[in-house]
Amino acid sequence: MEKLMITGGRPLQGTVSISGAKNSAIALIPAAILAESEVILDNLPLLSDVAVYSEILEELGATVTWEGSQMKIDPSSIKSIPMPNGPVKKLRASYYMMGAMLGRFKEAIIGLPGGCNFEPRPIDQHIKGFEALGATVTNEHGAIHLHAKELRGTKIYLDVSSVGATINIMLAAARAKGATIIENAAKEPEIIDVATLLNSMGAIIKGAGTETIRIEGVSELHGCRHSIIPDRIQAGTYMIAAAATRGNVLIDNVIPKHMEALTAKMQEMGIGIEEYDESIRVLGAPSYGHVDVKALIYPGFATDLQSPMTSLLTQAQGVSVLSDFVYSNRFKHVPELVRMGAKIRVEGRSAIIEGGQLNAAKVKAADLRAGAALVIAGLTVSEGVTEVTGVEYIDRGYDHLVSNLRLLGADVWRQTE
Ligand code: EPU
Repeated sequence: MEKLMITGGRPLQGTVSISGAKNSAIALIPAAILAESEVILDNLPLLSDVAVYSEILEELGATVTWEGSQMKIDPSSIKSIPMPNGPVKKLRASYYMMGAMLGRFKEAIIGLPGGCNFEPRPIDQHIKGFEALGATVTNEHGAIHLHAKELRGTKIYLDVSSVGATINIMLAAARAKGATIIENAAKEPEIIDVATLLNSMGAIIKGAGTETIRIEGVSELHGCRHSIIPDRIQAGTYMIAAAATRGNVLIDNVIPKHMEALTAKMQEMGIGIEEYDESIRVLGAPSYGHVDVKALIYPGFATDLQSPMTSLLTQAQGVSVLSDFVYSNRFKHVPELVRMGAKIRVEGRSAIIEGGQLNAAKVKAADLRAGAALVIAGLTVSEGVTEVTGVEYIDRGYDHLVSNLRLLGADVWRQTE
C-alpha cells in the first residue's frame, strides 16, 4: 500500500505549471471514437484515469499512442463490442462511452461506471437524453444495453444541469439526423472544450457554455488536433495550498476567468491575488478572515474545490460555513480533518468550520478531492508527519502532485508499505 508522507509548516514558494484538465480529457478521449480518422490531443494530463481510458479504446480496436502530454487516437478500426468490464468499473467517466458508441455505431453494451462514489451519482438524465434521441436503454444483468435504429435530433430539457449528461448528449447527437437542442445544459468550461473538439472534427455545435446548446447532426466526423484546456480544479488546489501554507506561488498555465469564484472568496479572506494573462499569483498573509462558501454549478464555486477549501478554512479566524448545493453529502474529508484536530461539524449539506491549528495524524482519502484536502491540511502542520492513505484516488486527478509540491519547497514523499 502506498501512502503520502508530509512534514508541513513550510510556506510553498515558486512556480507550478498546471496540466490539461482531467474532466475534459476523459470526455475528449471517448469523443475521438466519433471520428473516422486520427485525433491528436495535446496538453493531456498524466493520470491513471487517462491510462484506463486508453486501455478501453485499445480493447475496442483503436490504435492509441501516448507520449508525454500528447495522445494520438486512430479510431478507424474500432468495433462495436461489449465494453471491457474491468477498466469500465475503475472509471466514473466511462459513461461517456455510451454517448460516443451510440453516436458512432447506434449501439453500446457497458457495465455500470465506477469511480469516486462519495454519494449516489445517478445517470438518469443521460438515459433520458439517449431515449429522447431514439435509443432503447435496458439494464440486463448489471450491464446497460443501448440500441437505436437511428438517432434523431430533438429538444431535451435537463431536469438538473448535469455536466456528464450535457456532454453525453452532445456526443450522441453529433452524428444524429437533424438538430438537437439541449435546454438547461451545464455551462462548465469542459463542455466548451468538448464542443470545440467536436466542431474541429466537423460537428456543428453552437451555444456550448450557455444553457442552450444546439447540435446540428452530421453524417461523418474526421480527425483533427486539439489542445486541452488547463485543469481549473488542479489550479484551484494549488492556489488553496499556497494560501493555507501562507506561501507565495505563481500558478502558471491557467485561465484566470475560470478561477473567478475561488479568487473572489480568497480575496474576501484577505489572501493576495495577482492575475496575469495565463497565470495567477497567490500571496499568503499572516491571518485570514472567515467566509461563507456555496458550491454551485459553474460559474459558481466548484464542488470539486469544496473539500480543499474546507482545509483552508480551518486556517481562518472565526467560523465559516461551507455548503455544497451540487452534492449534498460530499463530506468524507471531514471526519479525517477532525482526526487532525479540526473543529468541523456537518449539518445537512453544510460544513461548519471553526478556525484553529491542526495536528499530524494518520488519515485516509476516501475520494480524489478529499485526498487533496488532506494533503493541504498536512502541509499546514509543522510538527510530526501526516500520513495520507488512499493515494490511488489522489493519482486519479493530480498530475505530478508530489514532484510539484517538492519543487514548491514542501517536504512530501511517497512511501510503500
Ligand atoms: N445528476 C442527476 N442525474 C444525472 C446526472 C447528475 O441527478 O443523470 C445530479 C448529480 O447527482 C449531482 C448533479 O446532478 O447532484 C451534478 O452532477 P453532474 O452530472 O454535473 O456531475 P458528473 O458529470 O457526474 C462531473 C465531474 C465531477 C464534478 C461534477 C460537477 C467528471 C467525470 N466528473 O461529474 O468531478 O464534481 O461534474 O462539476 O467530469 C472530480 O473531478 O472530483 C469530480 C467528481
